[in-house]
Amino acid sequence: MVSEMQIENKANAQSSKAIKTFNLATRILFTIAVIGQWLFVYYIVAFYGGVVVSGAYEKINKVLVHGMIEGDNMGNFVLGVHIFLAAIITFGGPIQFFSTIRNRFPVFHRWNGRIYFVTAFLISSAGLFMIATRGAVGGTIGMLGNILNAILIMTFAVFAWRAAMQRNFKAHKKWAIRTFLMVSGVWFIRIGYCLWILLTGFTAPGTNKSMSGPFDNFLGLGHSLIPLLILELYFFAKAHPSLKIKKIATVVLLLLGLLLSAGVVMVVLIFWLPKLTHQ
Ligand code: HEM
Repeated sequence: MVSEMQIENKANAQSSKAIKTFNLATRILFTIAVIGQWLFVYYIVAFYGGVVVSGAYEKINKVLVHGMIEGDNMGNFVLGVHIFLAAIITFGGPIQFFSTIRNRFPVFHRWNGRIYFVTAFLISSAGLFMIATRGAVGGTIGMLGNILNAILIMTFAVFAWRAAMQRNFKAHKKWAIRTFLMVSGVWFIRIGYCLWILLTGFTAPGTNKSMSGPFDNFLGLGHSLIPLLILELYFFAKAHPSLKIKKIATVVLLLLGLLLSAGVVMVVLIFWLPKLTHQ
């Protein structure tokens, strides 16, 4: 006869297996995101670094909507700072989540975190300045999406920093992840376009050159709101005691990992490699 103790042990073993698989799926998704983001850093450094070294600034206008504008020295300077900070923030962000570094080098974690939050403010302000002085990239909804992204980055950064100062590390971690996802918005938008191109057989309906089509608008708002919604569902599944919810969440995380991997490969092939090879 099966004793109560045996049933309890079995339930505990199942529960710890489900939690382990859930955590593994989280790590897989995070690893794919880090690889994809550091490829973005590689592109930024290789392309814009190449432009600076060669002095061929006209190449910037082949890849950006506004880019370098003659006579707009301030705007060009802000664009340069924005792109320089983009490399720093995209490289430094993921490092904050490596638990080994956090535990072994707490001083580094603190300083890298401060740099991250200050950079988040500067880069968002630079983005808002460019929109205000040069006009939007995309339609009205796209512009509102960018403004929303900047507001969320700065708001979440304040909450994350405040929670760290109050030594409320549980809340700090949550706000820091939210900030990281919002900072990753510009990366998500590229992944989003590339997945759309892939899933629609290279037709990408709902997009147009001025980035004001229905899909452009959807992604304009979605590049902040979709990752945020997924993250809140993740927090819910992580905290919920139900094994069924953990198992469903694990499958969803793995599916997201597949989508993200496809998106990263597509971004490299469609957006970045052509710009680097036609330097
Ligand atoms: C916080 C993370 C951000 C990162 C990592 C980032 C990164 C970049 C990069 C790499 C570029 C050059 C584009 C390319 O080579 O494809 C760029 C351009 C630009 N970004 Fe950001 N950005 C961020 C946030 C923002 C925000 C919040 C806004 C708006 C409020 C914004 C507005 C712009 C604008 C207007 C341009 C110039 C586009 C053009 O002239 O066509 N960025 N950004």
